[in-house]
Amino acid sequence: MVGKFREMKRRGERITALTAYDYPTARLLDESGLDIILVGDSVGMVVLGYKDTTQVTLDEMLHHTRAVRRGVKSALLVADMPIHTYDTPLRALGAEAVKLEGGVTHVAQIERIVAAGIPLMAHIGMLPQSVREEGGYKVKGRSREQAEALLRDARAVEAAGAFSVVLEIIAPETAKTISASIEIPTIGIGSGNDCDGQILVTHDLIGLFPWFTPKFVAPEANVAEQIRKAARGFVERARRG
Ligand code: KIV
Repeated sequence: MVGKFREMKRRGERITALTAYDYPTARLLDESGLDIILVGDSVGMVVLGYKDTTQVTLDEMLHHTRAVRRGVKSALLVADMPIHTYDTPLRALGAEAVKLEGGVTHVAQIERIVAAGIPLMAHIGMLPQSVREEGGYKVKGRSREQAEALLRDARAVEAAGAFSVVLEIIAPETAKTISASIEIPTIGIGSGNDCDGQILVTHDLIGLFPWFTPKFVAPEANVAEQIRKAARGFVERARRG
């Protein structure tokens, strides 16, 4: 199943991916023809109300992944591995298709997961699970040193067997160079148009998390306002009796 993504890259076909955390969203996205649906650990922020993704547990990911599984028929379903669940390779085994954050530092984990027959999506650049150490969501790959380090990360995860790699908030020129330098597809988020595919957090795309929208997102809808409007209408009608 994941071999098709490398083929898509070869043919110059762009790969589309969005996040889902529940059954109806997963089913709607799947019916919309997406290639990949990710149960991101962004669930911690946009659904569970945590400050960042570092509090998300494996149990929470399993709970949401099971719901999404029931709604997805066609897309590839990838689940994020939450922080510290892949510190040692053995704990990483047991999922179906997973994503973890890290490049050269995580080659051993990636190799073990892939050797166990689990398709693995890597994730380099800005790593949300390291946001506290990083002091914020900062652009990566602007300096030559950072760009070279990211290219090393991309090559390392490819060699370790990842079937694709997310490039998060990487300077567009660097993301373009990385995409041209490896054979597995790059899936960009806030990294310009020259990646092999694009991914967004669905709540950002549809305007369902109005308290914060990343700069690189142009929302296609304002679902938060629709909910407020419907709720206000209900309150008025119900109070009127
Ligand atoms: O958790 C998530 O939603 C992600 C995407 C932003 C790539 O990792």
